[in-house]
Amino acid sequence: MKTKQKIKGNSLKESAVFLKNAIFKPKEIAYVFPSSRALIRSIAIRSGLSEAKKIIELGPGTGGTTKGILSEMREDAKLCAVEINKNFVEFIKKNIPDERLSVCHDGAQNLAEIIKQQGWQHADVIISGIPFSTLPKGMGEEIMQSIYENIRPSGLFVAYQFRDRVGKLATPVFGEPSSYLEIKNLPPMRIYVWQKSE
Ligand SMILES: C[S@@+](CC[C@H](N)C(=O)[O-])C[C@H]1O[C@@H](n2cnc3c(N)ncnc32)[C@H](O)[C@@H]1O
Repeated sequence: MKTKQKIKGNSLKESAVFLKNAIFKPKEIAYVFPSSRALIRSIAIRSGLSEAKKIIELGPGTGGTTKGILSEMREDAKLCAVEINKNFVEFIKKNIPDERLSVCHDGAQNLAEIIKQQGWQHADVIISGIPFSTLPKGMGEEIMQSIYENIRPSGLFVAYQFRDRVGKLATPVFGEPSSYLEIKNLPPMRIYVWQKSE
């Protein structure tokens, strides 16, 4: 069950908050514009959300992708958005009132503890906008291992990235992904979908 809502683009306020934070934290945020409506829609429809009850979003930023995920999710599903930037956490909490959403001010490397705090044993789907190519040395491997260990068998890992660092980290653990190029975004982004084996 879900109430489908139209996916909207980012407001001027969202884009301004995103840009301001991107200037101060270029390695963590990596882009100056939040994801476009076309990219958000593409991510949401490729994430198998009609079947998922426990969903994790890594790196929601100002929440454009979060709203897209919520619009495709079931009414009885839960979304936990994990964001390292405190300003973004506060922005989402203030601007996205949805009972299905909890926002966690934490790093993706702490996924096991975050999932435990939700009272879950695993996630059905993990969707990530984290810029793997600019993470500090060793952190990408740490986050990928944590993603793999915390997805249920047959669950999905979805990542959207400009560079292929995420592919180099995820393919050895998950196997080959399906991938799609979304050109209606600045910069164009590749969406990767990995399925964990049974
Ligand atoms: C490219 S932005 C994506 C924002 C948004 N999802 C979008 O598509 O517009 C990357 C986001 O990942 C967050 N981030 C970076 N490292 C992180 C980490 N280790 N754990 C959680 N979030 C992180 C950044 O603060 C930023 O909000």
